[in-house]
Amino acid sequence: MLNDKVVLVTGAAGGIGRATAVAAAREGARVAVADLNLEGARETALLITDAGGSAIAMRTDISVPGDVRAMVGAVLDRYGRLDGAFNNAAIAQWQCGAASAKIGDIGEDAFARIMQVNVTGTWLCMRAELEHMSRNGGGAIVNASSISGLVGRAGSGAYSASKHAINGLTKTAAIEYAASDIRVNAVCPGFIDTVFVSSSLATRGDALLASVPMHRLGQPEEVAELVVWLLSDRARYITGSLQGVDGGFMAG
Ligand SMILES: NC(=O)c1ccc[n+]([C@@H]2O[C@H](COP(=O)([O-])OP(=O)(O)OC[C@H]3O[C@@H](n4cnc5c(N)ncnc54)[C@H](O)[C@@H]3O)[C@@H](O)[C@H]2O)c1
Repeated sequence: MLNDKVVLVTGAAGGIGRATAVAAAREGARVAVADLNLEGARETALLITDAGGSAIAMRTDISVPGDVRAMVGAVLDRYGRLDGAFNNAAIAQWQCGAASAKIGDIGEDAFARIMQVNVTGTWLCMRAELEHMSRNGGGAIVNASSISGLVGRAGSGAYSASKHAINGLTKTAAIEYAASDIRVNAVCPGFIDTVFVSSSLATRGDALLASVPMHRLGQPEEVAELVVWLLSDRARYITGSLQGVDGGFMAG
């Protein structure tokens, strides 16, 4: 599906990002793996090269403009082009000391950090990618949103606000760049089996699974399938969409 394409995946040291980087390589892409966690990014790249694919790993903090410029610059230096990007890196409230905090109880630092990484970081990545893709004949971008970008969920107000903001960036860019042959979509995963949901699982695992019609967590690979397809030319008439992958959660 991605033969001859160069694909960038942020937050690809593990979880959904790693699964997507590996799936993109399996589908023929050369893959740039970026993460704050360089060790993990290198492990992902090694999974790809050990299987006969091509990958580079880099340390990037998506909330730092210079890092994001350097990330896209490194992809162009190595591969000469960028056809697809999965802007997947993000943080949850528990990673900022605001686990399960109600709107009125979230600290200023935690709120600002979530916005800085999830919203500003995603926008910085989009800006750098769009700049290159507009000059080079098009491309496809997928942003990581969430079911929390579609509905409110108690205890995740800052995270939910950040994912709703990503939907706005996604839809606006889809309109603005359609004429440049750049498609921009978002995926909205439900509860996926990664460290990201470990805190919620530990405190309210039964309730969480009861809210999913399929009564199980999704696997990172099940999200990766959707992302890879959206990045491919098979999804050529799809832009500005928010695609669910949630075991039926949003149907409830
Ligand atoms: N796991 C879920 O249930 C779930 C559900 C809905 C949406 N999502 C979204 O999917 C995406 C991936 O989450 P995951 O579940 O694989 O979790 P994860 O924690 O395994 O992946 C997130 C990755 O982002 C990286 N990262 C964090 N801050 C960064 C920064 N500033 N710069 C660069 N990299 C940074 C982390 O090092 C990590 O490797 C996130 O956007 C998350 O919001 C996850």
